[in-house]
Amino acid sequence: KKPAGAPDKALARPVTKVGVIGAGLMATQFALLFVRRLQVPVVITDLDQERVDKGVATIHGEIDELLQKGRIGSDEANRLKALITGTTDKADFADCDWVIEAVFEELGVKQQVFADVEKHISPEAILATNTSSLSVEQIGAKLKHPERVVGFHFFNPVAVMPLIEVVKTPKTTDEALSTAMVTAAKLRKNAVITADTPGFVVNRILAKLLGEAMHAVEVGTPFDTVVEAVKPFGLPMDPFVLLELVGLKVGAHVLDTHHAAFPERFFESPALHELAEFGHLFEKDAKGKPKGIDPKVLKIV
Ligand code: 3HC
Repeated sequence: KKPAGAPDKALARPVTKVGVIGAGLMATQFALLFVRRLQVPVVITDLDQERVDKGVATIHGEIDELLQKGRIGSDEANRLKALITGTTDKADFADCDWVIEAVFEELGVKQQVFADVEKHISPEAILATNTSSLSVEQIGAKLKHPERVVGFHFFNPVAVMPLIEVVKTPKTTDEALSTAMVTAAKLRKNAVITADTPGFVVNRILAKLLGEAMHAVEVGTPFDTVVEAVKPFGLPMDPFVLLELVGLKVGAHVLDTHHAAFPERFFESPALHELAEFGHLFEKDAKGKPKGIDPKVLKIV
């Protein structure tokens, strides 16, 4: 079913408090964006207190960096820090009117966290998912109010990537869609509405690109040669640096989702799964910048 265009802005619900489920790589980045651009309380949760504390500390570190770079003043830094709270109790989400999840990329896990949080929030509150490639409709399938579910897909690094894919399911109301579009605009992102199809637009193409780059290595072309060969495409990052940025586990999951949906168009990559277990592709310099492929990786592929 084709997604409609953007509905009337007047239908958007006000967002006065944001709940973030997950305190990992993507969630911490967009939690900061929400608090900075919406200037509303943001509550963040994860499986245990340790993960929550780590996530909040990461956000505080990013705020300190903005302060050091002179992007914000110390009053603003303190205000942003005060607006961010961590919790392990979803009851603290009760007055959130926008809840967004970025938990492990597994359908059952995402369904469960939405079902858990639905018990605590109002029936009108919007539930957004940052899923990379799963069906947004299925993520909301166990809810009493699946019509409030919308995909809201950020790209890494969130602070600089200009796009958000807003995913409309056949059940998503105009109110939820409008809230997503208006929220994206307040976050100063360019939002596009996509169909609820594996990988939406960007990851469908990236899965192909990164999967084929990895496959070229698997069949014997050295990493450096693949990088050299794709240079004329003018990509902002070489495909393997991008894969490492996205996360090897996320990359492997995205590829699996595409293979399951379109087995004739996307292949499985056992090497990528092994590499995801190993943990990284690159050796890094003192600043964490990739120096070169870790020689141990060459024994895996
Ligand atoms: N966090 C915050 N800011 C960052 C950042 C980060 N991780 N990385 C870079 N930046 C900022 C820098 O501070 C700098 O800002 P400034 O000009 O205001 O000081 C600006 O970005 C440019 O950085 P650099 O000059 O150091 O580096 P580049 O010009 O090489 O740009 C890049 C870096 C924007 C990351 C660029 O390499 C790029 O666009 N890479 C491709 C990233 C991409 O495709 N992401 C999508 C991945 S797919 C995804 O996330 C979806 C998921 O579902 C899998």
